[in-house]
Amino acid sequence: MKSFTNRSFLKLLDLTGDEIEFLVDLSLKMDGYRNYKTPCATKNMALIFEKTSTRTRCSFEVACADLAINTVYLDPSTSQLGKKESVKDTARVLGRMFDAICYRGYGQERVQALADYSGLPVFNALTNESHPTQIIADFAVVKKTFGSLKGVTLVYFGDARYNMGNSLMVGCAKVGMNFVACCPKEYNPDGDLIKTCRKIANETGASITFCENPAEAAKLADVIYTDVWVSMGEPDEVWEKRINDLLPYQVNMNVINNSKVKIVLHCLPSFHNLETEIGLNVYKKYGLKELEITDEVFEMFKDSIFEEAKFRLLSIKAIILATLSDEDFDPFKA
Ligand code: CP
Ligand code: NVA
Repeated sequence: MKSFTNRSFLKLLDLTGDEIEFLVDLSLKMDGYRNYKTPCATKNMALIFEKTSTRTRCSFEVACADLAINTVYLDPSTSQLGKKESVKDTARVLGRMFDAICYRGYGQERVQALADYSGLPVFNALTNESHPTQIIADFAVVKKTFGSLKGVTLVYFGDARYNMGNSLMVGCAKVGMNFVACCPKEYNPDGDLIKTCRKIANETGASITFCENPAEAAKLADVIYTDVWVSMGEPDEVWEKRINDLLPYQVNMNVINNSKVKIVLHCLPSFHNLETEIGLNVYKKYGLKELEITDEVFEMFKDSIFEEAKFRLLSIKAIILATLSDEDFDPFKA
């Protein structure tokens, strides 16, 4: 656990490929294993969620309960954060009360400021730019399926400029997986990030490619990944253009039939039917019953998609354990 003790987990660019794979392996080792030791009896973690969450919040809460870490949940409606108190001042307060902070919210600079001014390890539970804990869970499912990460090709369909596209591209480059973004050019990740990832990929044997043709991209895929077309915090006005631009990149049976794909992944939540308020509103306005992935494909690949959700808990537990335990701590030693 040495290299992680007391480190923040803000973005995957801060980790080496070996460190990412160590966390993936620790998550896999925890699958079905309940008897590991907890790092200490009295730690406290602040969970700040400026955006909504099901999986990530539950994973942090359950992981902390399993590891005997107390949690305090804070959101903008019930705390001073945002309206009355800056991130910097909040960090300086929490730094004097807690042992760690988990943050979900807007710009990456907010989670960075929490780490800079609290002096505590801070876990990024999703920002606009990155979602690093999600990638550890995703890669655990990939490794469980293929036996290794290196050489596996992941094709991402949809808006690759946002947190999931960015983090998957960085993660793939770091561990030697091939990343393909299949979307219109304007939805590719930021040019500087692509340059950085291509440099990393040169060293790890990974490849980073961009393809505007879904049938061509599908042919390359061992893993197909997609995410919502409009992310949390984006205004409703973007829906129309997003639908027009990204509908050709929907993960549907044409994509699957063009591929030799073994698993489909989706970080969730997903708009694959009319059973959500947003899904229903989009249907009423634009006449589409399913968005980034069709219901048929979603149900066909439900095992890998919900396995991924299960690994959110295991991977977040692994990340917390690695960070908050002492250097010589071994959770599996009786
Ligand atoms: N995948 C994910 O982060 O889910 P939540 O938004 O429910 O936390
Ligand atoms: N891109 C999505 C990811 C959700 C886990 C969002 O930010 O809403």
